[in-house]
Amino acid sequence: MYRKLTLLSLSLITIALFNCTTNTIDEGDIEDLPPIVETITYDDDVAAIINSNCVGCHSGPNANAGLQLNGYANVRAATEQGNLLNRINNSGNPMPPAGVLPAETRQIIDQWVADGFLEN
Ligand code: HEC
Repeated sequence: MYRKLTLLSLSLITIALFNCTTNTIDEGDIEDLPPIVETITYDDDVAAIINSNCVGCHSGPNANAGLQLNGYANVRAATEQGNLLNRINNSGNPMPPAGVLPAETRQIIDQWVADGFLEN
């Protein structure tokens, strides 16, 4: 009898835990994602994100807000001296203006900053 109850409780706990982990990933918040364990570098991970989502408006002589985001040095400067991190995570006033990037994408940039702006 007790054995059956224990088994039943264990299965319920397992189901509950499984539901929690699968549900949170849908939320779209960086805090809900598993931490990144790989090393993030500008060349391998960040450049592709910036080039496909930002450089079209933020490069050349007519760069929006005068902000250049082409290349490692510019993106690092916009993060250290500017408000790049704040704007990509700001759902009320996001960059790109079309809407916040997926949490997985923003997490990569956050991790790059936390790791100290590795270039390659
Ligand atoms: C469709 C064009 C467009 C795209 C794409 C775009 N931006 Fe912008 N960005 C703007 C405009 C216009 C402004 C100035 C108005 C404002 O601050 O909202 C701006 C302003 C900014 C600012 C504030 C600059 C300052 O001096 O205050 C940052 C930081 C920024 N963008 C980062 C990014 C990043 C990072 C991306 C890509 C993830 C991106 N933007 C993609 C048009 C764009």
